[in-house]
Amino acid sequence: MATTNKTGAIGPVPFMNDGSAALGVPLAGLTGDDPKLWVRFYQGTWVLATFVPAIASIQQSFRPRGGDVVIASIPKSGTTWLKALAFATMARGVYPPDTAAEHPLLRLNPHQCVTNLERLYSAGQESMIEALPSPRLLSTHMHHSILPSSISKNPDCKIVYICREPKDMVVSLWHFCRRGKPDVSFSDLFEAVCQGTSVSGPFWDHVHGYWNASKANPEAVLFLRYEDMLRDPAGNVRKLARFVGQPFSPAEEEAGVVAQIVRLCSLDNLKNLEVNKPSSASQPFANDWFFRKGEAGDWVNHMTPDMARRLDAIVEEKLSGSGLSFA
Ligand code: A3P
Repeated sequence: MATTNKTGAIGPVPFMNDGSAALGVPLAGLTGDDPKLWVRFYQGTWVLATFVPAIASIQQSFRPRGGDVVIASIPKSGTTWLKALAFATMARGVYPPDTAAEHPLLRLNPHQCVTNLERLYSAGQESMIEALPSPRLLSTHMHHSILPSSISKNPDCKIVYICREPKDMVVSLWHFCRRGKPDVSFSDLFEAVCQGTSVSGPFWDHVHGYWNASKANPEAVLFLRYEDMLRDPAGNVRKLARFVGQPFSPAEEEAGVVAQIVRLCSLDNLKNLEVNKPSSASQPFANDWFFRKGEAGDWVNHMTPDMARRLDAIVEEKLSGSGLSFA
């Protein structure tokens, strides 16, 4: 359990004391005594304790290139879908979505096409992104407030953020966690989200940070909503393409490229690919865990009206005055 000294500082701690996980706490109801999955409060945000050194390293040494695009999200907000859509859109010159049999998304999970910075740095594999040709497509679950300024204050490095209605995000998180730990309690997880202590929490600060950044600098931060994407996937793919500087040409529109991308990245298509079938286990999560229902409003099947009212009230209070709402 993390403790503070008289000055409120967290250290010093023994360097060899099983690493940063020693400074973390179990996530309510979820991780129990497995320190690999503990969370830690770092610079005002809750992150996996084992990712803290990676985040510190990203903050100090990540060097973006002009043309980089970073996908940002809270887990379970539609990251996998956005990774697929952004990859298919940005790579369409090399991998046309109509030559389906050759497309990387047909043999790789979207998370294998677009890497997560924290995971890569924590595996000591950051040099791999140096070897990627530009433009690079990367991802993060970090709050906007803890991004290195080399990303957050760099107009040449674009951010695409996806957010999701919080009640559906919690339900999706619970189903995901159950894949690894079947007895995880929905109410404990719900409580952690309401307290702001679940992974990437507080969720309201996460969403708010990127929302403000997109308002302040719409050319650098695109703010997307999962529910809008469900309603109008093609419209959102066009928006994404314009934002990354690769708008669809009249010829591409005529040829139906947007519809091809939407079809390639649809839940039904990706979920049924061999690479994303339940048997294809990979670390730390199996590929099939990322695909479930893909709907809006599933929270009604899991939450009591009191729980829903409580979370709605938190969202309303925390986002009040921001211009962002989920009503
Ligand atoms: P549900 O659990 O509600 O079904 P993330 O990618 O951030 O981990 O989010 C996972 C959620 O996105 C899951 O929601 C999953 O089913 C949904 N999802 C994954 N791929 C999708 C796709 N191609 N289209 C729509 N939703 C998708």
